[in-house]
Amino acid sequence: PEVVEIEVRDSVCVVSLRRPAKLNAISEQMEHELCGAIATPEVRESSCVVFTGGADVFSAGADLTVTRGYAPEEIIAHYRGTGDFAERVAALPQPTLSAIAGYCIGGGLELALATDFRIAEPSADFRFPEVALGILPSWGGAVRAVRLLGAAKAKELILLRERIDAEQALALGLVTEVVQEGRAPERALELALRLASLPRHAISVTKRVIDVLPESSHAAGLELERIAYGMLA
Ligand code: COA
Repeated sequence: PEVVEIEVRDSVCVVSLRRPAKLNAISEQMEHELCGAIATPEVRESSCVVFTGGADVFSAGADLTVTRGYAPEEIIAHYRGTGDFAERVAALPQPTLSAIAGYCIGGGLELALATDFRIAEPSADFRFPEVALGILPSWGGAVRAVRLLGAAKAKELILLRERIDAEQALALGLVTEVVQEGRAPERALELALRLASLPRHAISVTKRVIDVLPESSHAAGLELERIAYGMLA
């Protein structure tokens, strides 16, 4: 059975992880299906994409049964293929949101971090368990956690493996908003529709400018703003 489902709501596409019996653990099949979903006309033509794991859980992270037995070169090859699904999510030109209930752990948190906005329910439970497993977040989670929270906070999360609830996540800026239990998908859709009502190219170009600004100098950033303005105007 498929583990990723796509639903179109007006101009918004909702991508759902559907492997509840395994807490939406991200298997290779799910990586493939996520990459497949991102490449569909439904997603490509949508003005906004919402990622969700359903009512009870976002995702308990990488499927722990997957990586065992991989040789280093196989892992590198994997990351050049569908193992880079989180980068493909981050590279989507339109805005993306995550609607998060329950576990948002390890790779699940990495997927959420690859989206532009995170809407959490009070049940949300954020953590990076990787180092205790002898590994580290490697779907861009360490990179994004440092960018978003700063190195010291990222170390609390990743090295000390601090567990963060929805309110703490809000205080840290890890999530955009905390809504009532059960309301995250609805709220994410509301924000998605708000974004969808705005000029599409302005939203898309501005998202990409903002995404590269942390890597640019002041001068390069200003140039980029002006060139993007010229193009849009
Ligand atoms: N990979 C593969 N299977 C997973 C999984 C994962 N990351 N997380 C949960 N599952 C499976 C469990 O094996 C179990 O399957 P089973 O019913 O066939 O035995 C099912 O999902 C339910 O999980 P369970 O552990 O019974 O739920 P829980 O509520 O007691 O605990 C967690 C939830 C998230 C605390 C616990 O499942 C866990 O620690 N998971 C691993 C988290 C992790 O380290 N992720 C990897 C980051 S790289």
